[in-house]
Amino acid sequence: MGILLKEKIQLNGEIMDYREEIARIISEAAEIEASEVMAAIGIPDDMAHGNFDFPCHRLAKTMRKPPAAIAEDLKSRIVLTQAFEEVKAEGPYLNFFINKAEYAESVLSMILGKGARYGESDDGSGKTVVIDYSSPNVTHEFHIGHLFSAVIGAAIYRIYDFLGYKTVGINYIGDWGTQFGKLLYAYSAWSSREKLEAGGLDELTRVYVKYHEEESNNPELKESARAWLVRLENGDAEAVELWKWFCKICLDKMEIIYKRLGITFDSYRGESYYEDKMQAVVDELFAKNLMEESEGAQIVNLEAYKMPPCLILRSDGGTLYPTRDIASAFDRKRTYDFYKSLYVTDMRQNLHFAQFFKVLELMGYDWAKDMRHIPYGVLSLENGPLQSRKGNTILLKDVFDEAARLILEVINEKNAELENKESVAEDVGVGAVVFGVLYTSRIKDLVFSWEKALNFDGETGPYVQYTHARATSVLSKGGLIIDGGMEVNFSKLTDPAAQELIKALDIYPSKIKEAAEKYEPFILARALVAIAQGYNKFYNVNIILTSDEDIKRARLALTKCVKDTLKSGLGLLGIKAPEKM
Ligand code: ARG
Repeated sequence: MGILLKEKIQLNGEIMDYREEIARIISEAAEIEASEVMAAIGIPDDMAHGNFDFPCHRLAKTMRKPPAAIAEDLKSRIVLTQAFEEVKAEGPYLNFFINKAEYAESVLSMILGKGARYGESDDGSGKTVVIDYSSPNVTHEFHIGHLFSAVIGAAIYRIYDFLGYKTVGINYIGDWGTQFGKLLYAYSAWSSREKLEAGGLDELTRVYVKYHEEESNNPELKESARAWLVRLENGDAEAVELWKWFCKICLDKMEIIYKRLGITFDSYRGESYYEDKMQAVVDELFAKNLMEESEGAQIVNLEAYKMPPCLILRSDGGTLYPTRDIASAFDRKRTYDFYKSLYVTDMRQNLHFAQFFKVLELMGYDWAKDMRHIPYGVLSLENGPLQSRKGNTILLKDVFDEAARLILEVINEKNAELENKESVAEDVGVGAVVFGVLYTSRIKDLVFSWEKALNFDGETGPYVQYTHARATSVLSKGGLIIDGGMEVNFSKLTDPAAQELIKALDIYPSKIKEAAEKYEPFILARALVAIAQGYNKFYNVNIILTSDEDIKRARLALTKCVKDTLKSGLGLLGIKAPEKM
């Protein structure tokens, strides 16, 4: 079917672009530029109103008629090509109904041809996006507060990569600053080499907590901690050696979590790296007359921009968090010549980023406009298996272990014979947590609900993973080789459930782009749930493995598209897709 379509595929290797076609048709009927029409063409939520719509109020000014009259008028003048079944004037809208078999063909041949690469693009070719994510302070073990930055940042990284950008992931570890003075003092007072070797991070945490308890009764400890910090800053051999050791203990522990999350970085350049690169920043700020003295400290006054001053030097000459961020921004621009530079942290740092971006701008760097803070809200756990004991934070390790344990219970109930069930439980448990935090807009505070996140039926990770496993199983039972070269009778995919599903697949690439533009992985997560829901509905109302070969082939081809898209989309979110569950 569809000579026009085949011709198009042969001509430019591309499938029919319905929007372009609709824009052309309307522009001819209305005698306006196609480009003006293009941007206004939408996709109705409900397919009962067509596959595409055009709101006619756009033309009310030039055509000097009420939108509904314009719709009627255009409808009578429009000449449809065979790609369309019908155009209807409904209120102020023109609704376009496309030829269903041809729609199925255009979407499915694209996906069958691209497989797991469906949705990929080269939009970003030649452009580098630098993403600063996770970036924990290395004095303690990963707790749930660390989850958001890591998974949001890594998802944005993978999405940009998929869209053809060169991506650079930076773990700007907080391996410098006052906490190390405290830790060095605490170690020297209450620990030893043997104890630290034996206890590792638990031992470091023990003395760090003790330090804070003691400090409240004995303020002199502050002085001792300060003295250790100065030793470290001055490069004292013992202090430096211990500091390195503490960092390594902490980082090794973090790597275990990154592994479970499938997260990697291209650079671990942390705060300490900039220790000897800040003088240049300070000098430049003086030279550009941006520094002002305030109570002994050096600041950049930002009153004109309705912000408190940006602190550059403490009164004792020490540098600060913003000073280091300015130095690291120079380093990133020089090293990567980025198109965009992103920072994923919680929204309590909104002001910090606004301030230091402004300082860069005042220094005359126009690339400051390419930097973005990607803030997120607070994550907490709903009462459940892991209650936070007073004063204690909940460790990520425990959250993942618990999730995997609960999923294993479900597997033992439903499918006890499953091979590798521990590893499936790990993939689904960790995936459930990750999906749970990526399913809402990042700005919102999130109370993580165990029951919701681990549910196999809700809008969850396990639900999407389960749907993927279901599609995999249907395909293996179907026993056909399905790829771009197969013959499919697409007129067998015109029922409402198939068409709804095809639509969910069709808009998937635009959802990836939207997720990238808004730095919102949840848009992708929702697109995957929509595909999974569409498939389950399709599966429930249609017999896929029927004796009619034509129907079976067509339904299996659709199943294959679902499987590949779910797997690749989950992968972008950092979630594994087990073949069997
Ligand atoms: N280490 C900081 C924290 O834990 C986050 C660092 C974010 N990145 C940056 N370039 N400031 O709050």
